[in-house]
Amino acid sequence: MPYECDVVTLFPEMFDAITQYGVTGRASRNSIFRLKIWNPRDFSDNSHRTVDDSPYGGGPGMVMMAGPLEEAIISARKRQQMLGIEKTEVIYLTPQGRRLDHCEAKRLSLSPGIILLCGRYEGIDERVIHRQVDTEVSIGDYVLSGGELAAMVVIDSVVRLIPGTLGDPESATQESFVNGLLDYPHYTRPEQYCESSVPDVLLSGNHALIQRWRLQQALGKTWLKRPDLLKLKEKNGITEEEKTL
Ligand code: ADE
Repeated sequence: MPYECDVVTLFPEMFDAITQYGVTGRASRNSIFRLKIWNPRDFSDNSHRTVDDSPYGGGPGMVMMAGPLEEAIISARKRQQMLGIEKTEVIYLTPQGRRLDHCEAKRLSLSPGIILLCGRYEGIDERVIHRQVDTEVSIGDYVLSGGELAAMVVIDSVVRLIPGTLGDPESATQESFVNGLLDYPHYTRPEQYCESSVPDVLLSGNHALIQRWRLQQALGKTWLKRPDLLKLKEKNGITEEEKTL
């Protein structure tokens, strides 16, 4: 069964970026995940398809109205229920949410599906968050013009963790953050490039040595660039596989 991903957005076409290109495009074509878009305008109660209004209390910009958003979310919930998914997690993309990391992507990938809610303008009516949203997720401490790019970041990071998405299943277990470290350096042909050569160990054919070198490189890079990750790693301990290196 595909991973079911429902998205509530005023800009459906933006999601072509993930359904038509690269790894996620292939996963979509191979039915590893399925994307269903819900446009709040289709749930507006007037012929102008209005979905926003000025904020109570004054202030700049517009706010997305509760009604069309809630109706769209309920329709998404019903679709997932019809597919046998009883209680789908509704995620609102907002800078006020908990920062997305590998652990959260992994957690979401283990569920059968998600509903992603994308805001625009100054934000959405707070009552939708209280009534419908389970989790608020941010992709970083900056403000985007809407939740769509953030939703695509969530979908990409989740879909690549679903078995079958990556051609070589080892890719998902080797990349950055999976073992709490940054990735090791990669090289491909030619062996010599502008006076710079590929490290000898990678040409040695000795798998154990290569594994050990990669772990050393990953540790060194993490120590230099993201020492905060090493603190976490110290707390969580090294894996059984790492102990053998
Ligand atoms: N919407 C606007 N900015 C955002 C951010 N940083 N993360 C998630 N959703 C957002």
